[in-house]
Amino acid sequence: MVTDMSTSSHTPVLLEETVQALAVQPGGRYIDCTVGGGGHAAAILDRSSPGGQLLGIDADPEAIKVARTRLEAHSGSSLFVNENFLNLQASCIRYDFFPVHGILFDLGLSSLQLGSPARGFSFQHEGPLDMRLSPAQELTADEIVNTYSENELARLIGTYGEEGYSRQIARRIVQKRPLRTTLELARVVEQATGGRRGKIHPATRTFQALRIAVNQELEHLEAALEQATSLLGFQGRLVVISYHSLEDRIVKRFMLKEARDCICPPGTPSCVCGHTASLRLLTRKVIRPSPAEVGFNPRSRSARLRAAERLLSRDELDETIEKLCFSVAGSSTVWKRPALLKEVRRAFSAV
Ligand SMILES: C[S@@+](CC[C@H](N)C(=O)[O-])C[C@H]1O[C@@H](n2cnc3c(N)ncnc32)[C@H](O)[C@@H]1O
Repeated sequence: MVTDMSTSSHTPVLLEETVQALAVQPGGRYIDCTVGGGGHAAAILDRSSPGGQLLGIDADPEAIKVARTRLEAHSGSSLFVNENFLNLQASCIRYDFFPVHGILFDLGLSSLQLGSPARGFSFQHEGPLDMRLSPAQELTADEIVNTYSENELARLIGTYGEEGYSRQIARRIVQKRPLRTTLELARVVEQATGGRRGKIHPATRTFQALRIAVNQELEHLEAALEQATSLLGFQGRLVVISYHSLEDRIVKRFMLKEARDCICPPGTPSCVCGHTASLRLLTRKVIRPSPAEVGFNPRSRSARLRAAERLLSRDELDETIEKLCFSVAGSSTVWKRPALLKEVRRAFSAV
């Protein structure tokens, strides 16, 4: 995969809102799981200085190169890792980077990737049907388009693209294949849907569906949100910017579930799940870009930001209190522990 992403640039979306939601503070430790062109990361590093640290992750090796170069001035306080955020926890353990004050996911693609024809993400540039975030991945959009059955294609385009014309598009693709380039595919979709209606290009949803399938975006997001929560310290912030309703639904459901103490089905007489809340919601309603931002950066128009703050679950609270008491009491004064435990428990429950 030969690309040149160094000459273009990506404008970070909801930048001030993100820094606020992360509550970035000097000396804080942050993870940007989708470092991309390094725009959000730069702001986090600036605001967490002096003493702040950032772990920047991206599945795309080109993005890591761009971010590392852009943030060279912060090389003493940042570490960039070419990794899928599916492996977030393993990366943090490897680099001993936890617990943290904040974790950001700015999902989707950067302008650098969309503007790079060789990556095959855009129906506006001629390129191969690739769409992989990393060249290490095996499955490409070409393989899906040219080998999946009509039914499989229709299901994929309907589910991941929320496309009403999925059956017609799948039929047309199967009739016209092999299809090798982005523009060939875009033309076939246009023919299948009867051309452009409204502002959105008819191939938008099909391209979204293929990209999601190639990169297993939804599965990876679900797994990463769980991991991220466990890496946050008490009152650490989880901030997610999503760009389509499938992603946003996953984020919303995850945060709502993790903000509840019991997730038993409605009507269960007494709790049997034992689930305890690990997050407190900070955004009951999503934060969206202002009209001014959309005017200045049209790619921000579909962005939705959700944020939550880490709580300690009952089990973690007990564990923490015990650890705290041991460390405060020390081995020579172990006899003080029960009294101290009671005291700390009272202090915590008053919060
Ligand atoms: C919207 S861009 C981020 C832009 C960045 N916030 C900035 O200000 O420049 C999304 C980035 O997330 C990366 N990405 C998407 N899914 C990923 C995953 N599962 N693991 C790691 N990186 C991912 C993409 O490669 C892309 O560089």
